Amino acid sequence: MTPAFTDYYLDKRDAADRQLASLAVDNAGLPQEIGQALLSLADACRYALTNGGKRIRAVLVYAAANATAGTDEGVNAIACAVEMIHSYSLVHDDLPAMDDDDLRRGQPSCHRAYNEATAILVGDALQARAFELLADAAEFSPSQRIAMIKTLAAASGLRGMVGGQAIDTAATGSDLTLPQLQAMHALKTGALIRAALAMGGIAAGASEEQLAALDEYGSHIGLAFQVVDDILDVEGDTATLGKTQGKDGDANKPTYVKLMGLAGAKKEVKRLLKAALEALDEFGESADHLRDLARYIVERDR
Ligand code: IPE
Ligand code: IPE
Ligand code: MG
Ligand code: MG
Ligand code: MG
Repeated sequence: MTPAFTDYYLDKRDAADRQLASLAVDNAGLPQEIGQALLSLADACRYALTNGGKRIRAVLVYAAANATAGTDEGVNAIACAVEMIHSYSLVHDDLPAMDDDDLRRGQPSCHRAYNEATAILVGDALQARAFELLADAAEFSPSQRIAMIKTLAAASGLRGMVGGQAIDTAATGSDLTLPQLQAMHALKTGALIRAALAMGGIAAGASEEQLAALDEYGSHIGLAFQVVDDILDVEGDTATLGKTQGKDGDANKPTYVKLMGLAGAKKEVKRLLKAALEALDEFGESADHLRDLARYIVERDR
């Protein structure tokens, strides 16, 4: 990371962290007389949300808005909505019925810290809260809010992240062809990354051409994100990753590394980075944060 990008990234990440923490505190302000169960669910939501994620999707929302308009007024709520969906997806991803992972972001995963029923409900609650946040985003016009809600809903559901997770679950233990693997990764991880970019663009009043360029960038960098995640599962270490290294191999998951080997997966990441950067050609310097983010996504060690 260049010093300028580090400053930008930390500034946006911390803004998202602060708002996510304050939204979680709102939850904790629930009236005591409602009962312990609800308070404990609110506590588990806070646990899952304010536990040190990299907030890359939040920063993507900001960077897409900055690339388009130079202004990011009101964008933090949008960034937080995307991170809520992402955090929910991780809570469910770790459940015994899915990846059965005990560690997330360096701490016991939600169902280990609480219990499975709570983790399921945390995901449900965070998902609903994300859309409430978008509906309430008063800085944006009703048509912008509807467009953002529709974008996030489509990217989260059957034709997006959840669909990708269904393919992943069904394909565990079997081999996929490269096009099948690509489609799975594009859905389970790429869809939400593309949505983050589109929502940043919508918030900043992007033209159709700008939205198309952001989407093209997102399709490459979204896929690269999951290929790098597959590589880190092999090459990373548990302490740095904050999640259990080697999980994919143990579970016989279909991954890029399994299909192409480490060298092949790394070559693919390079190709995707180049394609992502080319997609930004129509933007000038205003898209430099997106360019830096693309490099960060492929070079990260966690
Ligand atoms: C992990 O996402 C899950 C994938 C989609 C590969 P991140 O690597 O962005 O996780 P956090 O939010 O930083 O914990
Ligand atoms: C997760 O993919 C994708 C999601 C939609 C959550 P992984 O199962 O590879 O994510 P990690 O490695 O557990 O973070
Ligand atoms: Mg998974
Ligand atoms: Mg997993
Ligand atoms: Mg993984």
